[in-house]
Amino acid sequence: MLDQNKSDTTDIAEVMEFTQMESARQGFVSALRKHVMVDLAGEMRQDYETNVKPTYTKNNGEEPGTPRDVKKAMKPRTRYRMWSSLRYNAQEMVWASVQNGVERALPEMIHLAKDAAETNPAGGSLRLDPDLKIPRYVSALDVHLMPGCFHTEHTKDDVAQGAVQVIGGEVFRGSFRHRKGNPGAVGDSIAHYLKLKHPDFDPKRILDLGCNTGKNLFPYLDVYPDAEAHGVDVGAPLLRYGHAVASHDGLPVHFSQQNAEHLNFEDNSFDIVTSSFFLHELPVKSTKAIFTEAHRVLKPGGLMIHMELPPNSEVDPYYGFYLDWDAGSNNNEPFYAEFRNQDVIGLCNETGFSPEKNIKILIPNYGSFGADKFKSFVNGEIPAPQHGNGASWFIFGGWK
Ligand SMILES: C[S@@+](CC[C@H](N)C(=O)[O-])C[C@H]1O[C@@H](n2cnc3c(N)ncnc32)[C@H](O)[C@@H]1O
Repeated sequence: MLDQNKSDTTDIAEVMEFTQMESARQGFVSALRKHVMVDLAGEMRQDYETNVKPTYTKNNGEEPGTPRDVKKAMKPRTRYRMWSSLRYNAQEMVWASVQNGVERALPEMIHLAKDAAETNPAGGSLRLDPDLKIPRYVSALDVHLMPGCFHTEHTKDDVAQGAVQVIGGEVFRGSFRHRKGNPGAVGDSIAHYLKLKHPDFDPKRILDLGCNTGKNLFPYLDVYPDAEAHGVDVGAPLLRYGHAVASHDGLPVHFSQQNAEHLNFEDNSFDIVTSSFFLHELPVKSTKAIFTEAHRVLKPGGLMIHMELPPNSEVDPYYGFYLDWDAGSNNNEPFYAEFRNQDVIGLCNETGFSPEKNIKILIPNYGSFGADKFKSFVNGEIPAPQHGNGASWFIFGGWK
C-alpha cells in the first residue's frame, strides 16, 4: 500500500484488546468453522457420491440434475443435518466471539474515527447521509446472522458494526490473529488481472459498490496508485470504520453513504465500477437498477466488473446445492439462490451493456496463486483452479 502516506494516527483495529478467554473462544470458533467447512463438508460430499447419488439414480432413473434435486436427496441425511446445524451455530458464534471486545473499545474507536473524519490525514473523505432510507433487504433481517446487520447504530457516531464485521470476518476465515483484517483478496486479484490483461487501460476513477469497510477497494490503489478511489455503502458504521482504517494506512479513499440503486455521481464519471460479494444479497430488480446506474456513471470505454458466487450454470448440481446453503434463513440471505439462477451476462445486456463487450471468467486468487503463475494464467498458458478446488473468483461484467 502507499506507505509513504502512512499516518502516525493510532490504528483503530489496534485499540481492541481481547481477554485470554475471548481469544481462546475466537480460536475455537475458527477451528470449528474449518472443521465444518473442510473435514465434515468433505465427508458429506463422500456420502453423496457413495450413497445418496446412486440411490437417487436408482429410484429416479437419472442422476440428480439440479441443486434442488440434490437438496431433496440430502435433506433427510443425519450427516447433512448435523453439518448444517453446526455451520449455523458456528456462524452465530463468530460474531458473539468479538462483540465484548468491540464494546469495550467503542468509545476510543469512535474518537479515532471522528478524528480521521475531521482531519482526513490521507486525503480521502467521508460523506454520510443521515436521511438515507436503508433498503428493506438490509434493515429487515440480520444478513449473515450478524446482530444489527450492516447499518445499525447503537450510539452517536457508531463504528461497532464495522469493527464486528472486520474482526469477526477474521474469525470467520480462520485468520483471527490478523487483527487488522486481511487485505482484500478479491480486489487484489481483479486489479492485477486487469493490469496484466489490459495494460493500456489506465483507470483514473474507481467506484466500489457495497464497499463495506473498503477492504476490496483498497488493493486497487496498489495496482493503480494514481487513481481516485470511491466506495459507497448504506451502512454508516462500516464507512466510518473503513475511513479510519484508510486514513491510518495512508489510503486516500472517498467513502460515501449512498444506495447504489440511486447514485449521486455524475454521468460518465468513472473508469471502473466494481463490487464483490454484493449482488447475491439483493433482489434481482435491485441488481438491474444498480447495473443501469453503473452504466450511467461509467465513462465510454469504462468497465463494470463484479465478483460474485458462480451461477448454477457454471457448477455441478452438488456444488450448487452446497453453495445455496446460505440462502434463506440459514444465513439470512433470501435472494442468494435466485441470484445464482440468473444469466448474469443477460442481466448486463438488459441494462445497457453490449453483448460484444462482456466479460465472464474464473480467475485465480492472486495472493495464493503467486505472481508468476497468475501471469501464465492471464497469458492463457494455465487454467484457474476450478470451483471448490482451490481459491478462484468468478468475475463478470462489461465494457461501456
Ligand atoms: C457482503 S457485503 C460486501 C462486502 C464487500 N464488498 C467486501 O468485498 O468485503 C454487502 C454490502 O453491501 C451493502 N449494501 C447492501 N445494499 C446496498 C445498496 N443498495 N447500496 C449500497 N450498499 C449496499 C451492505 O451494507 C454491505 O456492506
